[in-house]
Amino acid sequence: MKTKQVAVIGAGQMGNGIAQVFAQAGYRVVMIDVIPEALDKGMATIKKSLAKFAQKGKITRAEESEILGRISTSLKLEGAAPAQFVVEAIVENTDVKRKVFSQLDELTEPDTILASNTSSISITKLAAATNRPNKVIGMHFMNPVPVMKLVEVVRGIATSDEVTSLVMDLAVQLGKTPVEVNDFPGFVSNRILMPMINEAIFTLQDGVADKEAIDTVMKLGMNHPMGPLTLADFIGLDTCLYIMEVLHRELGDDKYRPAPLLRKMVDAGYLGRKTGRGFYDYGNG
Ligand code: CAA
Ligand code: NAD
Repeated sequence: MKTKQVAVIGAGQMGNGIAQVFAQAGYRVVMIDVIPEALDKGMATIKKSLAKFAQKGKITRAEESEILGRISTSLKLEGAAPAQFVVEAIVENTDVKRKVFSQLDELTEPDTILASNTSSISITKLAAATNRPNKVIGMHFMNPVPVMKLVEVVRGIATSDEVTSLVMDLAVQLGKTPVEVNDFPGFVSNRILMPMINEAIFTLQDGVADKEAIDTVMKLGMNHPMGPLTLADFIGLDTCLYIMEVLHRELGDDKYRPAPLLRKMVDAGYLGRKTGRGFYDYGNG
């Protein structure tokens, strides 16, 4: 299979970054969302990121406009029909993702590979919503996608060797470093990262220290680039909660229970940077 056309489903924080890195590597990309404003915001974010790269001399001004010229947008999932490779990056909800995988299975050619950027959900479960489980795989990019090197490549129970090696090679072509892992709740990245973030929220909730102190301890004491509460705001508190719920439910161990304060923040609509307010205040987001 020769991939030329890629579809990215979801234009949010991850989707627009994924569309950008594929376009930077020379692919034609259609970025699809159900909300027009999400597509506008996604394109604006891509433009800002490319302008940063151009300003630093990492790409030329001519390349900047060529890359932008390779990205189109659509409000309809049917826009994915001509793609040889699809990456899904919508909300971290199993039922919603399964529905989209089943629709993609109907819409696309039988040899199209369907990848998910899920943070924690079973690839095997998503694959079972299609008639091509051997061609369904996890391609888990890290935020911010244009900068972060890692791609966690997640094999479902039926994912073929051929598809796995194709996606490993594709990640390298995008300038990333792929790591192959097995399908298990949270994979490696969020099995380890998210309980640390959740524990930081318990630490805040228990009044052990204020948010700045907790973040400073982890930044200066453990050399993390961002403190865990800043990182939670950066990821999105809704996404953090959904990941903890998957770990809790699927691993069946109360050590993964989401902090009640995390749930309260999400209930209030304080989702972090993307809504302008999380543990910290970001003004207009
Ligand atoms: N596009 C282009 N360039 C970008 C960018 C973007 N979207 N975001 C940041 N940059 C660039 C900056 O311009 C800067 O470039 P130079 O070093 O060449 O000047 C560089 O990246 C660093 O940015 P800043 O100086 O603004 O800020 P920083 O030094 O704090 O770095 C950061 C920003 C890279 C985000 C850093 O804070 C960091 O690594 N944070 C942790 C990120 C992390 O842990 N990500 C994983 C989240 S978990 C996940 O993704 C998985 C999941 O399923 C939840
Ligand atoms: P986000 O909330 O920023 O964006 C999600 C987008 O999907 C929204 O624009 C929404 O309108 C759109 N959407 C929802 N349902 C849709 C549908 N049926 N069809 C088309 N578009 C639809 O979320 P995000 O942070 O970009 O996360 C997306 C996925 O990536 C999740 O599975 C998340 O777990 C995963 N992920 C997130 C991060 C992170 O740091 N935020 C990192 C790695 C992976």
